[in-house]
Amino acid sequence: MERVFVFRPSHLLLLICFLLLSQPYCSSSLSSFSSFNSSTPLCHSHQSFALLQFKHSFSIEESADSDNYCYPKTNSWKMGTDCCGWDGITCDTMTGHVIGVDLSCSGLVGPIHPNSTLFSLRHLQKLNLGYNDFNDSTISSKFGGFANMTHLNLASSFTGNIPSKISHLSKLVSLDLSWNFGMRIETPSLKRLVQNLTHLTELFLFGVDMSYVSPNSFMNLSSSLTSLNLFECGLKGRFPDNIFHLPNLQLLDLSYNYNLTGSLPTYNWSTPLKSLGLSITEFLIDLPNLISNLKSLKKLYLRRCNFTGSYLAHLPNLTQITSLDLSYNNFGGQFPWSLLNFEVLTYLDLSGNNFIGQLPEVTTNLTQILSSNNSSNSQLVNKIPSNLEHLLLSRNLLNGTVPSWVYTIPSLRFLCLNYNQFTGHIGDFQHNSLVVLLLNNNNLHGPLPLSLSKSVNLSELSISFNNLSGNVESKIFSKLKSLQYLDMSNNPLLSLSSFTFATNILPKLSSLSLSSCKLSEIPHFLRTAEYIEDLNLSKNQIKGNIPKWFLEVGKDSLYSLNLSYNFLTSVGHLPWKYMDILDLRSNMLQGPLPVPPLFISFFSVSRNNITGQISSSICNLSFVSYLDLSYNHLSNLIPPCLGNLSDYLIDLDLRSNNLNGTIPTTFAKGCYLRSLKLNGNQLEGLLPQSLVHCRNLEVLDFGNNKINSTFPRWLETLPELRVLILRSNKFHGALGNPKTKFPFPNLRIIDLSHNEFHGCLPTNLFKYLKAMMNASADKGELKYMGDYYYQDSVTIVMKGFFFELVKIQSLFTTIDFSNNNFKGEIPKAIGELRSLKGLNFSHNNLSGHVPPSLGNLTNLEWLDLSSNKLTGEIPIQLVDITYLAILNLSENYLFGQIPQGKQFNTFTNDSYNGNLGLCGFPMKACGNDEGQQPPPPSTIQEDNFKFENGFHWKVVLLGYGVGFMFGLGLGYLVFSSGKPIWLVNIFYGE
Ligand SMILES: *[C@@H]1O[C@H](CO)[C@@H](O)[C@H](O)[C@H]1NC(C)=O
Ligand SMILES: *[C@@H]1O[C@H](CO)[C@@H](O)[C@H](O)[C@H]1NC(C)=O
Repeated sequence: MERVFVFRPSHLLLLICFLLLSQPYCSSSLSSFSSFNSSTPLCHSHQSFALLQFKHSFSIEESADSDNYCYPKTNSWKMGTDCCGWDGITCDTMTGHVIGVDLSCSGLVGPIHPNSTLFSLRHLQKLNLGYNDFNDSTISSKFGGFANMTHLNLASSFTGNIPSKISHLSKLVSLDLSWNFGMRIETPSLKRLVQNLTHLTELFLFGVDMSYVSPNSFMNLSSSLTSLNLFECGLKGRFPDNIFHLPNLQLLDLSYNYNLTGSLPTYNWSTPLKSLGLSITEFLIDLPNLISNLKSLKKLYLRRCNFTGSYLAHLPNLTQITSLDLSYNNFGGQFPWSLLNFEVLTYLDLSGNNFIGQLPEVTTNLTQILSSNNSSNSQLVNKIPSNLEHLLLSRNLLNGTVPSWVYTIPSLRFLCLNYNQFTGHIGDFQHNSLVVLLLNNNNLHGPLPLSLSKSVNLSELSISFNNLSGNVESKIFSKLKSLQYLDMSNNPLLSLSSFTFATNILPKLSSLSLSSCKLSEIPHFLRTAEYIEDLNLSKNQIKGNIPKWFLEVGKDSLYSLNLSYNFLTSVGHLPWKYMDILDLRSNMLQGPLPVPPLFISFFSVSRNNITGQISSSICNLSFVSYLDLSYNHLSNLIPPCLGNLSDYLIDLDLRSNNLNGTIPTTFAKGCYLRSLKLNGNQLEGLLPQSLVHCRNLEVLDFGNNKINSTFPRWLETLPELRVLILRSNKFHGALGNPKTKFPFPNLRIIDLSHNEFHGCLPTNLFKYLKAMMNASADKGELKYMGDYYYQDSVTIVMKGFFFELVKIQSLFTTIDFSNNNFKGEIPKAIGELRSLKGLNFSHNNLSGHVPPSLGNLTNLEWLDLSSNKLTGEIPIQLVDITYLAILNLSENYLFGQIPQGKQFNTFTNDSYNGNLGLCGFPMKACGNDEGQQPPPPSTIQEDNFKFENGFHWKVVLLGYGVGFMFGLGLGYLVFSSGKPIWLVNIFYGE
């Protein structure tokens, strides 16, 4: 029987779904130890004593999940009984000496010291201590003292270097040091092992750090070697080719050595390889050649090997294959199901390949198979894959219904069909073998079948993001005692009320997601969820206070709690001491700021009604990385100590509160801050120059405060700064020329509007804004700023409207210098900023001509130069700006004929009003001598440059929660007056 080592906590879905079980043989060495017989003479008393002493040197952890393999075997070890009869002990039938100890997965906790009585059992031949917790102790060199040791398994949390004495175990046949992630092997020790252990047939070093080992050290491996597992060992460089000529090699796993290269023989394979793993390596692999040469191959693991194109159609039939992993290779097209011998297949992972089409139908009808050549739609195979245990097809483009045979496979344990386009109902599983069922992100509809209650072994279930409907009956879950991971979010038609009021179900739950499930209360069954770690109840209708009983739930386990987008009014004292992530944003929380648990790293109470001040005790949160208190009514000062938190702090968002005083000044060297958002407060004083220590800064938003400072030119050296918003403050003075050659190398959004800046626009600044120049960079992929936890959002003025960019597309670029006192000409260099989407210089004192170079800004969507003193004609080049939706040149001294054609046919009077000398559509027609002369200066009144004047774009503040990403058409917009035509066209039409 093959045993699978199940890792906890179970929510490490990836680990379980892909890592462990995709390499089932990594534990196969265990089975070779599994039968020890005990019909022997009484064991020697000193050996019995030594064993008992050994037992007592550990604390024994009884796990709730014991099974035939994992349980405390030492429970049967009792003083006064024959040790040869104890669990896990084998004695020599002639001498009575203890020759075998198998304490694998026995809950041993504690270190093994060199004085351990284990080492007095000199006759040991087989020792298995795998899967215990030896507290990261090192492997004692005493392990090298067992002269007759043949099998040694120390696959268990050891650290440090491997002792060189291990190479004295010259009779060693099998050595397993897997799972010792803190253990290191260096080239000399490895060379000694390879040289001295000439009888070695099995070598398992899964996870041992060999990043300093030269792969050449494996050159002289014993020719008796049958199994070599070097999974995720950090090996780099080229693996010796001769490995493929070892005459007995049956198992080779070099997977997850990201930088390991090598090549496979092109012909004459001499190895009887049965199992080959080269996933996520840089081996050059000719798949058809590999498969046609390795006739004995049964297990093949080639995840992420960069195969492309229609490779698969040319493969020979995989008649022997029992396990096949070709995941994440982006093959595309239809998968040729007929390639597989469905009868012997137990493990199939084709995730992440953009496969299209449907799962094959099974028919035993030969004529149907023959005629299926004509139907391209659904493929047929002639055998039910009745031995499948893993069917992993996540992240493809598969559609149609899930065929009925899937529900009839007796041994199916893992079924992952998530992230596809499957439709239809979920059928009835006819056996109770399922352990993991992932159906999320499809188009499934109908109810959650009652028959699921039979899957008593189910550990993980996700049905989120489908169109399931009907009542989820609590009966379904009453027998699912093993369920640890449950996600039913985002099925708008699914009714959960009977389920959420059930009690005493799901005792082992560790991760629950019921986001967007219309819950009005916290599910009652959580009262007994002792092991809950990760709870997401966001986007529901949970009202009022958090109930008292809930504060007792998962006291020692809960590390992530998401209650955002509900109607909670208070949370009380938060008791969870291990909590790492707490999201309370968009509720109705009142009163003072809740005090988050001490070890929190993500904390958001954004968009509530929190009042009072930010206590300086917030600085006790020394691990906080994301702190979002924005959109509340917090008042008084920002605790100056917040600047000292920058060892961990990545995002600090205090926007839209009533904070006053100055900005903390103590940002130290090595500060990690990535974004600092203080917009919409009453902060005054200067910008702290210590911010220049925060070399990772990407977003700085100080808009709408009372900051009284000159332009922070010293920020120009920040290499990552993308967004700088100083809007509506008391900034003053000239911008001046940059001090460095490439100022603001990454800047994409700059808003200096509504300040008191004066002086000329700095040509040398615009000349070098590199990030705004390359319009075509990364065009293929939409990227957003921020990361998994936190997406940056800022409010900017786009086409005259305030928009909150809920996500900032990383390529989005705008310049807004409006409403200042800038004078002089518009620098020609602006024309180089080719990725600009918006440019606003309105309400200044700019003079001179509109530079024709603006015509180069082909991505420009809005251009506002209104209320300045610009003269001359409108350059004809502007006609070439294809996307220009808004043009405002009003209230200037422009004259001459308005250019015609293209976008210019869509602009109305509003674009030109207040320029007495302009003519042509849409203004009055040009007469013979009209429009040729500048109007006499006396007709222009200086006080025309009023913000309210002349131009009637409605300034609309979008309500909270209304997000919008320009160019993506996400979300929706709310306007106080009707929607302007251009907006309707751009966002709703076309
Ligand atoms: C064995 O060594 C450890 C560590 O050196 C020590 O703590 C322990 O007391 C020793 N045990 C015995 C029985 O001497
Ligand atoms: C090791 O095996 C040899 C040969 O079977 C035997 O003579 C010797 O006593 C064994 N040594 C120990 C320590 O068991």
